[in-house]
Amino acid sequence: MSSHEACRLADLAPGSALRVEVAGDSGTVEVAVVRADDGSVYAISDICSHGQVSLSDGEVEGHHIECWLHGSMFDLRTGAPQALPATKPVPVYPVTVDGERVLVEVP
Ligand code: FES
Repeated sequence: MSSHEACRLADLAPGSALRVEVAGDSGTVEVAVVRADDGSVYAISDICSHGQVSLSDGEVEGHHIECWLHGSMFDLRTGAPQALPATKPVPVYPVTVDGERVLVEVP
């Protein structure tokens, strides 16, 4: 795993998500960087496990993000689906906030 700057904290309003491409050791990883309403920051795969759509286009609710296409909710802390139709988790990645820098570790 290697850590890369994904965005600036100022780019992420509370309750919002941003799609970023992070260079990993074995290629580019599409990541949704998410800031919950309480200010905590998460990184989760941007690709819904049910279909090939971008989770960062969904709604952030508490510590979950809702896929805009069919409404599955994913836990931002674990990637686990909390509502059908998705049944498979999505990968989550470690995040470090260093001042204004949001660093994400991807494989
Ligand atoms: S594509 Fe995300 S729930 Fe169906």
